[in-house]
Amino acid sequence: MYSARRRWGRRQRVLLWGVLLAAWEAAWGQLRYSVPEEMPKGSFVGDVAKDLGLQIPPLSDRGVRVISEGRTQYFALHGKTGHLMTAERIDREQLCRLVEKCVLRCELIVEGEMKVYEIQVEITDINDNAPSFREAEKDLRLSETAAIGARIPLPRALDPDLRRNSLQNYELSGDEHFSLAVQTGPGGDQRPELVLAKALDREEAAFHELVLRAMDGGDPARTGTARIRVTVLDANDNAPVFSQAEYTVRVAEDVPVGSVLVTVTATDPDEGLNGQVKYSFQTVSLKASEIFHLDSETGAITLLQNLDLEEDNSYELEVQARDGGDLSDTTKVAITVTDVNDNVPEISVRSALSEISEDAPSETVVALLHVHDRDSGANGEVRCSLDGDVPFRLESSQGSYYRVVTARELDREQQSEYNVTVRASDGGWPALQSSRVLALRVLDVNDNAPVFSQERYIMQISENHASCNEFEEVPAGVVHEEILMERKLVGFF
Ligand SMILES: *[C@@H]1O[C@H](CO)[C@@H](O)[C@H](O)[C@H]1NC(C)=O
Repeated sequence: MYSARRRWGRRQRVLLWGVLLAAWEAAWGQLRYSVPEEMPKGSFVGDVAKDLGLQIPPLSDRGVRVISEGRTQYFALHGKTGHLMTAERIDREQLCRLVEKCVLRCELIVEGEMKVYEIQVEITDINDNAPSFREAEKDLRLSETAAIGARIPLPRALDPDLRRNSLQNYELSGDEHFSLAVQTGPGGDQRPELVLAKALDREEAAFHELVLRAMDGGDPARTGTARIRVTVLDANDNAPVFSQAEYTVRVAEDVPVGSVLVTVTATDPDEGLNGQVKYSFQTVSLKASEIFHLDSETGAITLLQNLDLEEDNSYELEVQARDGGDLSDTTKVAITVTDVNDNVPEISVRSALSEISEDAPSETVVALLHVHDRDSGANGEVRCSLDGDVPFRLESSQGSYYRVVTARELDREQQSEYNVTVRASDGGWPALQSSRVLALRVLDVNDNAPVFSQERYIMQISENHASCNEFEEVPAGVVHEEILMERKLVGFF
């Protein structure tokens, strides 16, 4: 019996404890449940009827109601089962924001018994939020001279979920120029930073597209991304470069004024002012600067004056290209002027007889001529000749001198004067020529015996005839000139 009593006693005790616990809970008026957030409406939260030891069938008859604290009724009691159910979809992050323990309270009122039970429902977190960036795209600007290791803060992602369901780490994808560093802030928050891993070159890549990925630790994990666009800012890291180290130009000397002889070009891959090239003469003679004009914008070299090969047949100009950041390059422009047959050979009579005695021996020099053609090469090679069939010929003297000499004895009685045409022509194509006429009078000598027309002449002269002397007058001027000419000729030979 003892054992039976003892067995009964134990059962009584358990029952008693149960009642006491229920009474205690009722006294405190609290029931605690937990339910994950985002459960569909009507999800089971807790078996309130069982936990409170309420009789189920007449539950609704006895006027049992659940009232939530706020305006929204999140929970409802199922009349037949006595289960506490969700009456709304519950979003923990919306309800509690940053509060870690999210508890909703409601009261169960049993009207028939005039009792109130407090129910606390903890809403547990699920990974319903992905990390997200406030801006899906972020533009960064970085100079191409930025040092390797330079750090730029990146936008941070937020994930309102809790603990593992919240943001765990970042990843960066893009190119080898950038890497990612994540600093931990004082509050344990993660701060992503962009680290320059390789030197930038705007001329190689002006933009870099990167993707920053933020991940949480949920299962499955959720991610959020932000596009990072890095614009590389130009630095004047490129000097202008001429397309040629030397420009060689051949220009005909008759090229018209205003013609473009050559255009020098330098390129600079930099941007804006850093890549804007201006041209100028660096070293140039005063004369060349008067002949050539350099366009500072286009690099075109134009002719300001007529070229004259006979003055200068080549010019060397040094041209500088300078960018807006003061980096420069120089080039040489060699201009060679080529000859054009633009000069007529010139004949100058250095000395000439105007009269010659008819008994002058052959080879008598009657004129000394100088011929010159300012052109060069074949264009400047002169040949001389005499026109017509004349008793004179040309003899080449030293240099560009020619002598006109008599080819045979002259006969005044046959021809008393000659117009000797000397013609000079150059070797150009077509040839240019000029001529000079030498007028020569043949003087009489007494080569014919006088023949009287009459046997006898009778003259009557008055005594004091004053002009008697006139008969004796000598043509002194002529003689004098002849002497002078001879002196001149002697002087030249
Ligand atoms: C020579 O030229 C002059 C002037 O042109 C002319 O008067 C004269 O008749 C010419 N003489 C001969 C022989 O052609």
